[in-house]
Amino acid sequence: MKADLIVGIQWGDEGKGKIVDMLAQKYDMVCRSQGGHNAGHTIWVDGVRYALHLIPSGVLNPKAINIIGNGVVLSPESIIKEMEQFDSLEGKLFISDKAHLNLPYHALIDQAKEKLKGDKAIGTTGKGIGPAYSDKINRVGFRAGELLDSEKLCNSILEFFAQNRAIFDVLEISTPGREELLGLLVEYKEKLAPFIANTTNMVWDALDSGKKILLEGAQGTLLDIDHGTYPFVTSSSTVSAGACTGLGLNPKDIGKVTGIVKAYCTRVGNGPFPSEDFGEDGKRLGEQGHEFGTTTGRARRCGWFDAVACRYSSRLNGCDELSLMKLDVLDGFDEIKVCVAYEIDGEEIEYMPSDLESVKPVYRSFKGWEKTEGARSWEELPKEAREYIRAIETLTSTKVGMISTSPDRNDTILL
Ligand code: GDP
Ligand code: IMO
Ligand code: MG
Repeated sequence: MKADLIVGIQWGDEGKGKIVDMLAQKYDMVCRSQGGHNAGHTIWVDGVRYALHLIPSGVLNPKAINIIGNGVVLSPESIIKEMEQFDSLEGKLFISDKAHLNLPYHALIDQAKEKLKGDKAIGTTGKGIGPAYSDKINRVGFRAGELLDSEKLCNSILEFFAQNRAIFDVLEISTPGREELLGLLVEYKEKLAPFIANTTNMVWDALDSGKKILLEGAQGTLLDIDHGTYPFVTSSSTVSAGACTGLGLNPKDIGKVTGIVKAYCTRVGNGPFPSEDFGEDGKRLGEQGHEFGTTTGRARRCGWFDAVACRYSSRLNGCDELSLMKLDVLDGFDEIKVCVAYEIDGEEIEYMPSDLESVKPVYRSFKGWEKTEGARSWEELPKEAREYIRAIETLTSTKVGMISTSPDRNDTILL
């Protein structure tokens, strides 16, 4: 068997949670491979809203096993809180013993460093993601498996505090003493020990025994540490290749790749966004799309669909198809724009340059439509909406396989 993959195509918040939840009903295992609780995946089922940050969006399928892979940075505090939304997840959720810990001091470092950057700040979620991944790469991080021996881990962390005292002092971060730290680690162990496992073997066993696996990406391709709009990115590999290292899979284990993309575009935090609309249209997209972050509550910046960026992302990830999300948010617009090229130094280009900072969008206009909200079949869509979708397929060289017309699991068109 091969594992199918869901990946964000833009700057995150494309609606991955809805699609993973919908597809998860047909999968035996759902796995997260990167990111941390900077992710916010919203799922609506029967009018109830679930906000997931670390727990994979397969959790609402009573039969699926959920895996948090080695590539994730795990905040024990955040996941313990998140688990409280559900009945016991024992036997349903497993955390890789190799996943790095995102501890409270990581968030404090993240916030302190953002503050120091002033107007050059990245606009991170402040959740400690960058510092936790930095420690991993620096080989001074701690892993989930170490939670099983609280005393030993406590000593190691205290040693790390001592070695880095000067840095903590400069950033004006106070670190916990032995008693406080040990208390915290013992609590983490009590709550999380039953979930810590060798997930690499579990995923291999599942594949080898013919189980169906779905890999759930977090963030989006344009936030990728290598291929995104650096430095305004997150600190993990958000592209499909990252799912391999983040779970212990090899490239041959990956099956169908589906890119999740909004019918327009949003971004939270700072950094270039060529098709951002600063006028009434951008405001209206934000209002109709309820574009406020699931994790931080920040207003998302809004603009038009960027076909150049989407084609780039689709190629990077090897997308077999796209799921076009939030089509209904475009309902009622007279004119809908799509960025089809970039202008840079007076020249038009149709590829993604390494630096998006100075590009200007070149738009093509499409005629709007009245209503797609709640549509469940291709035939129900207005002619103009169908033309818009066909144009996106041509411009991005990728087929659209699913269309989403509301937050509800059922309001989805399969093509
Ligand atoms: P994720 O991070 O990619 O999982 O996306 P988020 O959950 O952060 O943001 C997507 C938001 O759009 C959520 O509030 C979803 O409930 C909502 N949503 C998903 N699909 C649709 C859709 O087709 N139409 C509308 N109106 N909302 C949608
Ligand atoms: P989901 O999975 C949207 C953004 C932050 C910031 C940058 C770096 O819900 O799509 P970080 O805290 O990761 O160091 O912040 O990345 N960001 C997201 N934007 N959706 C997300 O996740 C994001 N996770 C991080 O806003 O610009
Ligand atoms: Mg989100």
